[in-house]
Amino acid sequence: LLFVLAAFVLASCAEIEDRPSEPLPDQTVLTPGDGPLFDSGNDLILPADYREWPFIGSGLGLTYEDEPAAGQLPAFTNVFVNPSSYTSFMDTGAWPDGSVFVLEFRSSHTDARPNQAGRFQGDLQFLEIEVKDARFEDGWAFYGFGPGSDLAERAAPLAGDAVAPCIECHTEHTAVERTFVQFYPTLLEVAREKGTLKPGF
Ligand code: HEC
Repeated sequence: LLFVLAAFVLASCAEIEDRPSEPLPDQTVLTPGDGPLFDSGNDLILPADYREWPFIGSGLGLTYEDEPAAGQLPAFTNVFVNPSSYTSFMDTGAWPDGSVFVLEFRSSHTDARPNQAGRFQGDLQFLEIEVKDARFEDGWAFYGFGPGSDLAERAAPLAGDAVAPCIECHTEHTAVERTFVQFYPTLLEVAREKGTLKPGF
């Protein structure tokens, strides 16, 4: 029996060592379908197709943390949500567990023909993600994927001092749950209709 056990333990060790150091991005799925893909527990894999997801809103020069760098026009923001969560929100005005939000910051430009005075979007500057996930203490997880010039393929959830401002602002100033639905006009209408806006909105 001991021999069998030893052989089993050895085999398991070999199996662990055989695992590729870069695990494939289909290991754990919180929700079936288009929900978040996790790796090593809570590390989030950047959704490869988020640009094909519903686009829920855009901002221009919404400054709430740092002032834009001198000489730069204020950035555009674009927000996308995974399709099944979007459909669910349209029915209920609330977000299901496993909702994934992608926030892009893009540079702002004026200088191209035939534009006279308006602005258009340029390069990806930064990307952040937020996931509604009941496994987290607050029920939501926040991720930074870094500058667009060096975007990470996966990211660990922000923790401690890095996540505190995300949680604070996304708790105090958001219209629906932890999301800024007040800036997403078609969703705002739905939330109003379904009565899911926080008091004060
Ligand atoms: C001081 C306020 C503030 C802080 C701090 C903040 N955010 Fe936001 N966040 C916003 C606003 C305002 C929007 C709406 C953006 C838009 O409409 O373009 C937003 C939108 C988002 C969205 C899109 C989904 C949603 O909630 O509406 C994500 C994802 C996001 N933020 C991630 C983060 C992460 C990650 C952090 C921490 C590193 C963070 N935010 C910190 C104000 C904040």
